Amino acid sequence: MQTRVLTGITTTGTPHLGNYVGAIRPAIEASRRHDVEGFFFMADYHALIKSEDAARIERSRLEIAATWLAAGLDPAQVTFYRQSDIPEIPELTWFLTCVASKGMLNRAHAYKAAVDRNVETGEDADAGINAGLYMYPVLMAADILAFDAHQVPVGRDQIQHIEMARDLGQRFNHIHGRDFFVLPEALIEEQVATLPGLDGRKMSKSYDNTIPLFAGGSKALREAIMRIVTDSRLPGEPKDPDDCALFTIFRAFASGAETAAFRQALLDGIGWGEAKQVLFERIEAEVAPMRERYEAFMADPLAIEAILQQGARKARALATPKLAAIRDALGLRSSGAAIAGKGQVKGAPRAVKAPRFASFRDADGNFRFRLFSAEGDELLLSRSFLDPKAAGAVQRRIKALGAGAAVLQLRPLGLSLELDGEVVASTPDFRDEAARDEALVPLRQALDQLAAQD
Ligand code: TRP
Repeated sequence: MQTRVLTGITTTGTPHLGNYVGAIRPAIEASRRHDVEGFFFMADYHALIKSEDAARIERSRLEIAATWLAAGLDPAQVTFYRQSDIPEIPELTWFLTCVASKGMLNRAHAYKAAVDRNVETGEDADAGINAGLYMYPVLMAADILAFDAHQVPVGRDQIQHIEMARDLGQRFNHIHGRDFFVLPEALIEEQVATLPGLDGRKMSKSYDNTIPLFAGGSKALREAIMRIVTDSRLPGEPKDPDDCALFTIFRAFASGAETAAFRQALLDGIGWGEAKQVLFERIEAEVAPMRERYEAFMADPLAIEAILQQGARKARALATPKLAAIRDALGLRSSGAAIAGKGQVKGAPRAVKAPRFASFRDADGNFRFRLFSAEGDELLLSRSFLDPKAAGAVQRRIKALGAGAAVLQLRPLGLSLELDGEVVASTPDFRDEAARDEALVPLRQALDQLAAQD
């Protein structure tokens, strides 16, 4: 089974070299692995907590989408979307809010730090703190749980949030008596470099010591590099590579051989000005082709919009049926369905009509089956089986799975269902990818309905 890895990117600020080396580049590399199903989204609701400046939020969303695409994120291979395009996320946020203990939220680091600052300065404990900051961990839990992510790559400062997401997922599963949510794990990338900034401290927007990735073009990149703080050693005097921000940054972009050569040049006393020029050229070689793509995207916001809308469709194909099942479990079914289910609020809602299998013998005398939706639409056609018992066993296993556990593979124009790594049933081909992605919704719904039947 593929591991689902989900990453949220807060859309504030303009990406810098530290973001690129520490987050963007490793995440894109990981997204190319075949055993990983990547979910990347822009956490623009989270951004609202920190900024009321609409123009900045809008610009940052665009810049960050363009950055990830330019850096090589392939929207056909991953699901790339905006949080604010997925109404199921705020819906789930409320459901989780209702099982979240206030005490847990009181202990969240970011909120506690804001309270501590107030107390230190003699203010009222909650002065100037909005409830968005307080609820931040619940919104983040909804981001993760709505998509049943197994792993969430984050920095150390976010570990507590992942633990809270686990806690909320577990609590919800427990209260409602069903494994609605996969419990996520934090994935801490130990070996990923943190870059020093202009002043030698960790490169961070909050220290105002960043080197821009694309903004301002190669000129701004060069100017920033020339401002990196060095000691006062003159050309000809040996420099210590192990105590030198220039060298640490160089190493994050260079091969082993290039790094060894640069180390030697520093030991041999290369002047700081010249060393900075070498660093600039090395970074520029990696950044320039991406910058060109970045600028093309920035000049074509409609192209970005189309990619994100497509991503939102893919994401909602999972989230919509999931939230529908959760609403049912919470007693929020439409009255018609509730009457038909005669008060079976917990567990499986009994639908008036249910999806069903239909078995038949094909022209070769082999055994096959179809899966029809509750509305009678054909969803899947199985492969052929020599033995009717084998076909029946596969039907029972599909029934046992539910959409959460079923492995659905995307074909160019269709979907396939796999068991033990083997395709057992497929949809027909659709006219285009969008139609295929839309077909995921009823298919997952039907699988969940099947699993919920007794
Ligand atoms: N809080 C994360 C950060 O500041 C951003 C984020 C929001 C996120 N929702 C998420 C990260 C879900 C991972 C999963 O970096």
